[in-house]
Amino acid sequence: MELWKGRFKKKLDSQTNDFNSSISFDSRLYKEDIMGSIAHTKMLEKQNIITKKDFTESEDALTKILEDIQNGSLEINNNAEDIHTFIEEELTKRIGDTGKKLHTARSRNDQVALDIRMYLKEEIINIIEALKELEDVLIDKAEENLYTIMPGYTHLQRAQPITFAHYLMAYCEMFKRDIERLDKNYDSTNVMPLGSCALAGTTHNIDRKYTAEILEFKDVTLNSLDGVSDRDFLLELAFNISMIMMHLSRFSEEIILYCSWEFKFLELDDAFSTGSSIMPQKKNPDITELIRGKTGRTYGNLMALLTLMKGLPLAYNKDMQEDKEAIFDSIDTIKNCIKTLIPMVKTMNVLKENMKKAAETGFINATDCADYLVNRGIPFREAYKITGEIVGYCIDNNKILENLELEKYKEFSDKFENDVYDEIDLINCINKRNVIGGPAPEQVKQHIEKLKNK
Ligand code: ARG
Repeated sequence: MELWKGRFKKKLDSQTNDFNSSISFDSRLYKEDIMGSIAHTKMLEKQNIITKKDFTESEDALTKILEDIQNGSLEINNNAEDIHTFIEEELTKRIGDTGKKLHTARSRNDQVALDIRMYLKEEIINIIEALKELEDVLIDKAEENLYTIMPGYTHLQRAQPITFAHYLMAYCEMFKRDIERLDKNYDSTNVMPLGSCALAGTTHNIDRKYTAEILEFKDVTLNSLDGVSDRDFLLELAFNISMIMMHLSRFSEEIILYCSWEFKFLELDDAFSTGSSIMPQKKNPDITELIRGKTGRTYGNLMALLTLMKGLPLAYNKDMQEDKEAIFDSIDTIKNCIKTLIPMVKTMNVLKENMKKAAETGFINATDCADYLVNRGIPFREAYKITGEIVGYCIDNNKILENLELEKYKEFSDKFENDVYDEIDLINCINKRNVIGGPAPEQVKQHIEKLKNK
């Protein structure tokens, strides 16, 4: 039975019904739909639009429907047009005419806008919680590696010394910004559209602010056309998820590299890596590859949503039913990725010796050598050139800055003295980078404290 059967003489064609139906994916909104309906009827009762008896009967039956869905005794009918239709029909089946009053001063257009906002509010919190958990794991690892020296890279070429803690905390900064964006996204979602009805509000004397209060919304929408057709908050979330996935993907890419024999900075726990069906020696970082791969589908979802909305005249159009699969997929994807990544990062083995070895080659202390000359009065450009020549000499003669004799240094500049070796010592190079945001353990510790207090 269709909700809108009055005008029609024929039943909907069954193939068309399947095409039109959204229940296979919007059934996950059942709880929000029921809670929204209870709040709506409570408001109708307060406004004397329905009787107290109507309200209690509806509330009891709706609560029971919720329980029955949750305990599996009520199966959601996949032939229904959508979850809103299914629940209204079930209510009417259970309490007859009273159930038919539920939809007074409401349309599925504002109902679905309400449900999706309620659902996203909860999921935004879930994603924030997951990100915080990931940050905690990264911070723990950083605290264990404040003095773990590794090369920092630009162009994937060894550049300057950093610590593994400093490296990990870079990702914490990204996730901190992601959380801030999600906080804002929560606010834009936290506005209650019910009462917009189909598109033009209602003639009934409803109290929208009261409904918003019951459902714990901060505000109500201020234009009924926009109220039913705004999906900005949903697109914001699709973007925010894409951004987080981009961060996770960069991190994943580095874990993949660092697990390779070429780097061997990290080794994953057996429980979080996989083997090959043919090559017995292999240990593959599949989880991180999948995260990198799944980033693509979240971008796809964002593009689908932007494109979905771009040509829609006000107000509601059925196109908008397509918003759900895309955003649900992005939400499921990101939650799964973070949940899987956390124990993998927690258990991964940091191969400090290999990091140190890599830091010792590649002349990553060359800038420090140049700075040594700058501190002795040589202009930086000149110091840069001299150091470049020293590096060239070392490469040709299979030396590193640490074991080049002082006499040789002096051939390049008479400013060099024995203390140059202290200056280019990697630990000193790290400790001296003692500016806010720098890799000096002192600074990284302060950064960690700051984030912990947040
Ligand atoms: N299933 C629909 C959706 O998700 C609900 C709203 C239907 N409204 C309508 N006027 N047909 O968008």
